[in-house]
Amino acid sequence: MIYLDNAATTRKKPIRTIFEVIKALTLFNANPSRGSHKLSIKAGLKVLDCREHIKKFVNAPQNANVVYTYNCTEAINYALLGTLKQNDHVIITTFEHNAVLRTINSLKEKNVTYSVVTPNCYNNITIEQIKPLVKPNTKLIVVNHTSNVTGTTTNLKPIGEFCKTNGILFLVDGAQSAGHEKIDMENYNINFLALAGHKGLFGTQGIGALVINNTEPNPIKFGGSGTESENPNMPNYYPDKLEAGTINLVGIMALDGGISFVEKHQEKINKKTLKLATKLYGYLNQNKNITLYTSCIKSGVISFNLKNKSASDVVNYLSEHNVCVRGGLHCAPLAHKNLKTLNTGTIRVSISYFNKLTEINKLIKLLKKIA
Ligand code: ALA
Repeated sequence: MIYLDNAATTRKKPIRTIFEVIKALTLFNANPSRGSHKLSIKAGLKVLDCREHIKKFVNAPQNANVVYTYNCTEAINYALLGTLKQNDHVIITTFEHNAVLRTINSLKEKNVTYSVVTPNCYNNITIEQIKPLVKPNTKLIVVNHTSNVTGTTTNLKPIGEFCKTNGILFLVDGAQSAGHEKIDMENYNINFLALAGHKGLFGTQGIGALVINNTEPNPIKFGGSGTESENPNMPNYYPDKLEAGTINLVGIMALDGGISFVEKHQEKINKKTLKLATKLYGYLNQNKNITLYTSCIKSGVISFNLKNKSASDVVNYLSEHNVCVRGGLHCAPLAHKNLKTLNTGTIRVSISYFNKLTEINKLIKLLKKIA
């Protein structure tokens, strides 16, 4: 089986991740910080270590907080629903995932409105396109760092600087970029960074994180935090204020292991991904029967369509030949509207460090047959 759907979830995980899962279930398995016995404390300290590791990985300021979530979507929900109030305005980009779009739409009754930034002629989102959309009630700018549809990566620093100067909060969706692109929360003035554990960070499904810097979102979930149990409200400090209920120790430790792997091999990961993506891109780009929607291939995400063939037919054909790629709208309808692929969707190949050149060659061979 050739798996090229790594933007949905990376299939092959490093030994380091697997090892951490085993450790979590054997050496550390207790409810972290829910009790004063030795094992609970041991698990709690481990969870604390992992928070520090995530902060270091994204260069979050020392007083930033890491909140564990179920996934990146939940992290985005925490940031948006915990921050936006009646009559607030939000700026989002055309690349935003439904995690952003549907969450903001759910606030329609509060009269929360949004404007959408579209890419310039070079397919980039820049601060110049954002500026004219700012209103007096703009509370937040949301930027998808790397698109899960086109692989387009947005330069965050100028946007973060603009946000800081103008007192606007900056939320970055790092689902697709983490593990591929450098993320520097302090330097880019990011207030909220939403992360998926199971993609480029090589953790397991069911773990994500929201890193919070210099802002104080309200809780959207309520329950036990292991602290101030006599208080009928969530404790007024982070991460306890947002983390209700038992956290995912296995996922957290797996993520910790995945991040260690990325830190150690970042250069190799980027080099290999780019090499394989370049090979595929080279073929797709010279074939007159193929429409390409990707220009930035660094993260290994490449979207395209075959003329006169539906995306689903191609995806099914590839699946019959044991090649897994994703077709359709990829949960990002605005991106497809902008590409004019809302009706057709796209075929998306997403490459991981663990893919091989022979696998890309097999994909090219199959595409040659069907195109
Ligand atoms: N958001 C994930 C993807 O792009 C699931 O496939």
